[in-house]
Amino acid sequence: MKILILNGPNLSRLDLREKNYYGDLTYKDLAEAISTKADAMGVEIEIKQSDSESELISWIHEAADKRQPLIINPAAFTHYSYALRDAISMLKAPAIEVHLSNPLSREEFRHTSVVSGVVQGTIAGFGVDSYLLALTAMQNLAK
Ligand code: DQA
Repeated sequence: MKILILNGPNLSRLDLREKNYYGDLTYKDLAEAISTKADAMGVEIEIKQSDSESELISWIHEAADKRQPLIINPAAFTHYSYALRDAISMLKAPAIEVHLSNPLSREEFRHTSVVSGVVQGTIAGFGVDSYLLALTAMQNLAK
């Protein structure tokens, strides 16, 4: 089963964002690092990014229908999108929340995640490794 990896708003412009949190990493670098790790693990993945809440929700609905596992970085939607939370809670397979930075060490509005309560677990603060660790965790969950 293909693992769906979704990335939320502004993650396509990572290299133009706060250097102290995201460094010089481009979205292309991120996607390549995840694909390389998935290939090495023999895991099939599908990586997508959208700035639109509606598009992300449609993709999550499709994943629910296909019983597909999900790794998601909801970006700023993490902190306020009940719509995304409701969509994730309909999934039939495990979901893991990931963040490049550690939102708990940043501004107070980032300390709340409205999606954490409907995922298996959250991995945050390890840059690209947050996604790579999530791939390993997902593979173990599927065993
Ligand atoms: C982020 C953290 C969020 O607070 C922020 O809005 C993002 C990226 C991260 O990966 O560290 O866009 O999800």
